[in-house]
Amino acid sequence: MSARGRRHGSKSSASNFDKNDLHASVAGLEGTVFFHASLRDYTSFKIGGPADVLVEPADVEDVCRLVRQATARNVPWFVLGGTNLLVRDGGIRGIVVSLGELRAIKDEQGSVLYAEGGVGMPTLIGHAIRRSLAGLEWAAGIPGTVAGCVVMNAGTRLGEMKDSVKGVRLVNTKGGIVDLPVSKIPFSYRRAQLPRGIVVGVWLQLRQGVRAEIEQIVKDYLHYRRDTQPLAMPSAGCVFKNPPKDSAGRLIEAVGLKGARIGDVEVSTKHANFMVNRGEARAQDVLDLIGRVRRAVKRRAGVSLELELKIVGEA
Ligand code: EPU
Repeated sequence: MSARGRRHGSKSSASNFDKNDLHASVAGLEGTVFFHASLRDYTSFKIGGPADVLVEPADVEDVCRLVRQATARNVPWFVLGGTNLLVRDGGIRGIVVSLGELRAIKDEQGSVLYAEGGVGMPTLIGHAIRRSLAGLEWAAGIPGTVAGCVVMNAGTRLGEMKDSVKGVRLVNTKGGIVDLPVSKIPFSYRRAQLPRGIVVGVWLQLRQGVRAEIEQIVKDYLHYRRDTQPLAMPSAGCVFKNPPKDSAGRLIEAVGLKGARIGDVEVSTKHANFMVNRGEARAQDVLDLIGRVRRAVKRRAGVSLELELKIVGEA
């Protein structure tokens, strides 16, 4: 996950900026800056048009600087999580931020880990296992970043992010650093209500456990997911939210759409709530297939499926 992102910056005139503003927004950063960057390479779905500019800030200070400069120039910015995300074929105007360089993990007292926003969940779980810290086993197999998982309140049947979050560090829209305790963060199904900004770090309250036991749970769960989900194919994870007391995958299979295909996008034959990219899939193919699935499930099972997938960018 994914850090699923939100669009920020100017609300009223999101596209009212020019090349000079774009250049001024990213001037003097320590991190890497790519103009006209294909987002295909930055998403787990391997789909998506270009970003006007893609920035990988070197550190938190770089994030602050970027936000200050972009806000001053009225240039919108968007944090790319890359999983559970579909970028439309026209790409994203303004600045796309990737937190890939923010990947430090610190051990703190009382079984607490502080992970920078760009740390991948698999890396974090590996670290927790080495410290015999339990609490993140539910996330085995989730490919997103820790920041993305917090923003989305990522979860599985075994648990969800809100069970472990102790606090969040974010860079607000003025470019200042704000630390929020969990008591100030309302969580709901696949959503954390956070102030506008960029999550650059997360404190996780874990608990001391037995390393072999934690490792075993993670292994078993990974096996279960590898057996039931198309983890080896480019995808964006589950496309739809599970309706109350049911499974979107079960419903889609029941209406006969497992394996349905538009262009290079296919309803996975392994798990029907996944769509997989079999090559050169376009975002429009995904949107068309989503429409087809929704209509069939509504008509034949009477259920309106809601998207878990976040859709961003221009057509
Ligand atoms: N099922 C089918 N056909 C399918 C897929 C599933 O009949 O094509 C049936 C299964 O046989 C099972 C039931 O549906 O009886 C539930 O399936 P599964 O255990 O795979 O769980 P799920 O409800 O489909 C949820 C999460 C997944 C998470 C798994 C495993 C959501 C929307 N889905 O799926 O999360 O990996 O549990 O814990 O919350 C994601 O968030 O991206 C995601 C994939």
